[in-house]
Amino acid sequence: MLRIILDTDPGIDDALALFLALASPEVQLAAVTTVSGNVSVEQTTRNALTLLTLAGRSDIPVARGSAQPLVSTSIDAAHVHGANGLGEVDFPIPTLEPVTRHAVDLIIEMVMQAPGEITLVPIGPLTNIALAVRKEPRITERVREVVIMGGALRVPGNVTPHAEFNIASDAHAAHIVLHAGWPIRLVSLDTTTRAIMHRAQVEELAANGSRVTTAIRQMMSYYFEVFGPQHGNTDRFHMHDPLCLAAAFQPDLITWEPVYVDVELTGTLTQGTTVGYFNRPHTPAPNVLASVAVDTERFIRLYMERVAAAF
Ligand code: BDR
Ligand code: CA
Repeated sequence: MLRIILDTDPGIDDALALFLALASPEVQLAAVTTVSGNVSVEQTTRNALTLLTLAGRSDIPVARGSAQPLVSTSIDAAHVHGANGLGEVDFPIPTLEPVTRHAVDLIIEMVMQAPGEITLVPIGPLTNIALAVRKEPRITERVREVVIMGGALRVPGNVTPHAEFNIASDAHAAHIVLHAGWPIRLVSLDTTTRAIMHRAQVEELAANGSRVTTAIRQMMSYYFEVFGPQHGNTDRFHMHDPLCLAAAFQPDLITWEPVYVDVELTGTLTQGTTVGYFNRPHTPAPNVLASVAVDTERFIRLYMERVAAAF
């Protein structure tokens, strides 16, 4: 069993990733840590608790994390995910509480106590992970792997022409994490924008009428009816975070290429851009395994089968 800490900013696709983790027998979700990103950390923490309440999983610790990026000014994605981050669905007040420890301390404690066992799966800005590396650098030797949703290597960005949201939100944190010298898989927009769930598939998934699948349909309706149409899209949902989570326990869904990736910190137009040194002479040694292709059909089938069976 793979022990995962999901570091997250729910977020509709974060919610979908969390449900996949809970639905997958290969995964033991050791903790959920929250970060400011799609919406504030108060709201992402509340959302994580709401989602675990919905799924009936009061056994999983939730630790609240960073409220601000390390250096830059916060951006958010409430226009994509709704003001509450969960498609403006009015969920009941969660019955769970976060633990008292800060996310950064929980991450350090869990990784240090179980050398080689914990996989970190950050699917939001990398603030907590960077702070954990700075506070306890030995986690880089003790972690099993870090599987990150972030970046855009050979495709356009989604917040600026070149930068992807999670990296652009805290580029300095991303720089620390990418250069920490630990094993990283980078699940970037190069593959996540190909991992598309169609509206008809959401309806099929929700046909069992369970609390969780109904919540998925409600949250995604916001995307299909409010955000998507502004971009001429009423049918395609990018499964960014669920693909990243799946890659942690089933990496053969994706084709990987070792590559050196750096983050632009000073560009006035390109801040937060991830630059991949593909097939160039005299490049530094690869620091990530980059996702370059995905078996979308197999991934979406896996998602639907797992979640429909578990909830
Ligand atoms: C990432 O940005 C967020 O809005 C999503 O939750 C995902 O983690 C995609 O760029
Ligand atoms: Ca996210």
